[in-house]
Amino acid sequence: MTIRLTWKRLVLGLVAVVLFGMGFAWSGLFPIAASSGHWAITDWFLHWTMQNSARTYSTFQTPKEVHDNGALVSAAGHFRQSCAVCHGAPGTPPSPVMQAATPPAPDLAKTVDDYSDRELFWIVRHGVKYTGMPAWPAGERPDEVRRMVGFLRRLPGMSAEDYRALTAAPPGPLARCTGCHGGDGKGRGQTDIPILAGQKEQFLLSALRDFASGKRQGAVMQGAASGMTETEMRAAARYFANLPGLRSGSFAAPHPTADRGLPGKQLPSCLSCHAPGKAAPVLSGQRPEYLAARLRQWRGEEAVIDARKPRDPMAVIARRIPEAEIDGLAEALSR
Ligand code: HEC
Ligand code: HEC
Ligand code: HEC
Repeated sequence: MTIRLTWKRLVLGLVAVVLFGMGFAWSGLFPIAASSGHWAITDWFLHWTMQNSARTYSTFQTPKEVHDNGALVSAAGHFRQSCAVCHGAPGTPPSPVMQAATPPAPDLAKTVDDYSDRELFWIVRHGVKYTGMPAWPAGERPDEVRRMVGFLRRLPGMSAEDYRALTAAPPGPLARCTGCHGGDGKGRGQTDIPILAGQKEQFLLSALRDFASGKRQGAVMQGAASGMTETEMRAAARYFANLPGLRSGSFAAPHPTADRGLPGKQLPSCLSCHAPGKAAPVLSGQRPEYLAARLRQWRGEEAVIDARKPRDPMAVIARRIPEAEIDGLAEALSR
């Protein structure tokens, strides 16, 4: 007797498979215990699927620039505060608790060479479902992800001493901050880390509150600020504000847009707010690269920025500055 394949039989067969699968899931016999790990074949299959997915999506879901080699301190510090617990770091084994997960996080010094920069960017930005590998918590900060890719590329061959030199805090108070910001609050010469020393105390405090609440986007500082109590924030703001650094005096470099704004574009004078006695932060003495980067963050990377709701006055102001003026303004204001 032969059984002819008809549409009806095909559908009934599929329904039977689905019902069997549901029945199996309902029975509770499917082993979800992490303690038993995956079978080798399951492990291979899932990892292969993940790698294919990263390859495919990374070809169209990443910005043009995916790698920044120029600022390792903040990326290394963020790796230490957010990634090393699972992945381990040079000279630091991963937490045994995290390694008891299925799948355990790989030693990145051994695996990053399997991926292109574009794939690393995509994995770090979007994370990996069902594995514990988290997405980047600040979606609007591709600059941070780029710096992390630059750091990950250096991991193979990075010694424990190199890693310690990048991440260790100098002796003194606020060790949670000074690994990146330096004991003198001057940001260890890094162009992406602002000078906190001599900044207005009230601004430092409101920046910390904004990072902790997620109002100001940035995975690195959100990671540093999220566990702080109000008392700790106040103490940190006072500490850095009282160190010698930024100059809240008058501006040495006259610049037409900084002084008078651009009335035709409804751009106000920068110095009408960024002045002694006002709430806006001190810019004089700050790193020009940092000021320019902040202005570009407010503008956003997407083409249609005006469709998004402005979150604060500086976002509106930053979008009115002509792109060609940004670096010059940042340079003049930082003098
Ligand atoms: C809760 C644990 C956990 C944390 C925290 C974590 N990861 Fe992962 N990560 C994983 C796991 C598990 C995988 C393996 C995913 C897989 O095999 O499909 C992974 C994979 C990766 C990969 C792909 C490399 C490979 O061999 O598969 C990169 C790159 C990576 N993580 C970077 C990071 C970075 C950077 C951070 C910090 C911002 C981070 N991870 C934080 C668990 C974690
Ligand atoms: C892992 C590196 C790292 C650590 C640790 C860190 N910071 Fe930061 N901090 C940064 C970077 C990078 C920025 C620039 C803002 C951004 O990129 O989002 C920043 C910005 C800030 C700002 C905003 C200043 C401005 O001019 O806008 C404040 C305030 C601040 N940090 C305070 C702290 C305090 C207090 C601590 C300790 C609890 C701390 N940071 C720990 C890297 C770090
Ligand atoms: C209406 C008042 C106002 C005007 C006008 C203004 N700013 Fe601001 N600016 C602020 C405030 C308030 C902040 C703090 C925003 C925050 O809390 O993150 C700020 C922050 C900044 C920062 C970030 C500093 C840091 O350390 O993070 C830069 C850069 C900046 N302004 C540049 C400019 C420039 C350039 C102009 C002129 C084109 C300008 N601002 C005009 C109020 C103003």
